[in-house]
Amino acid sequence: MSKIKVAIVGCGNISGIYFKNLTKRFNNLVEIAACVDIIKEKAEAAGKEYGIPKVLSFEEVLNDCEIKLIVNLTIPASHAEVSLAALEAGKHVYLEKPLAISREDGRRMVDLAREKNVLLGCAPETFMGAGIQTCRKLIDDGVIGKPIAASAYMMCHGHESWHPAPEFYYKIGGGPMFDMGPYYLTALITLLGSVRRVSGSVKKSFEQRTITSESKKGTIIDVEVPTHLSALLDFADGTTANLTTSFDVWHHNMPNIEIYGTEGSLKVPDPNTFAGPVMLKLKGETQWREIPLTHEYSENSRGVGVADMAAAISGNRKHRAHGDLAYHVLDIMHAVHESSDSGKHILLQSSCERPTMMPMGVQDGELD
Ligand SMILES: NC(=O)c1ccc[n+]([C@@H]2O[C@H](COP(=O)([O-])OP(=O)(O)OC[C@H]3O[C@@H](n4cnc5c(N)ncnc54)[C@H](O)[C@@H]3O)[C@@H](O)[C@H]2O)c1
Repeated sequence: MSKIKVAIVGCGNISGIYFKNLTKRFNNLVEIAACVDIIKEKAEAAGKEYGIPKVLSFEEVLNDCEIKLIVNLTIPASHAEVSLAALEAGKHVYLEKPLAISREDGRRMVDLAREKNVLLGCAPETFMGAGIQTCRKLIDDGVIGKPIAASAYMMCHGHESWHPAPEFYYKIGGGPMFDMGPYYLTALITLLGSVRRVSGSVKKSFEQRTITSESKKGTIIDVEVPTHLSALLDFADGTTANLTTSFDVWHHNMPNIEIYGTEGSLKVPDPNTFAGPVMLKLKGETQWREIPLTHEYSENSRGVGVADMAAAISGNRKHRAHGDLAYHVLDIMHAVHESSDSGKHILLQSSCERPTMMPMGVQDGELD
């Protein structure tokens, strides 16, 4: 299989793991040919650290016909602009979550990719990891019977204590639903399929946040978005789920995700990781028991979605972290806010195919 030449756009906090995994673990499928950042020194530093041959401007990347795939790791406010320009130039695009801030931009990205006959992929790809794939197999094999309901919780006190530039988490396009919801929603869709109807209740508990991480310590952020959101999700197959995402909670004892079936219950691991543990307790059993992971990729494998897209381009098959899935997630997140504002259930206009299961028995770096 020939390697796909890739450019990384946005060399910030999350880019390190992409550089590392794409240059070391997935270098059979991709080659990082260039990197870009609006702050050129950041791209130069990354280029030097990871041995990337070229540090270019975005314009230069768009005009470089050897580069086929753009990996957009910019902040959410730049996701659509950078991705649309790359799609317009005929490049395949994989980007960090969320797909876009507005539904309109997300839709344009999906439509433009189709029109240009290129692939659009979007994080999170943690659902491709060993933990959630093991859960997927258990559900598809009927081990917990027919799914009845699910509970999902992502609650913490925000990112201003550790992220060096946390402002975007509290601006339009941020908040716990747009930031962390994609992990939970993508995992739930992988496990249970598309969502049909959404209702929500949202609030903002603190008007301002103070940065306590080092470089911007003491800086005040004005909070623009709701920071505690509860959603009820009705899946197309009849399963119901409750999902809470919060940046307002100091401590809690709620699970990441649990799925309740007619024959028993499943504890799904943190969907912001690739690992386990996967815990199962069937009807009549008295203890939860840990299920051995059935799939590859249990360590931090960010970049596996890019590699899967490269394999899909070369192998002429579908990729897993696909644009329709990311658009459905975006649609759900907007519907939670809209339902809270309007006091009504929202019937979704979008749906998507469940991504295909990851292969079993492959080596690290291999995909199928
Ligand atoms: N930090 C994390 O732990 C984490 C984890 C998972 C996903 N993400 C997602 O990754 C994305 C980036 O997050 P981050 O934490 O790395 O942010 P960051 O601010 O640390 O890095 C973003 C980088 O993109 C650059 N950039 C912004 N606009 C640009 C443009 N138009 N062209 C070129 N470069 C541009 C910035 O200069 C910066 O270096 C976000 O969508 C975030 O949701 C972050």
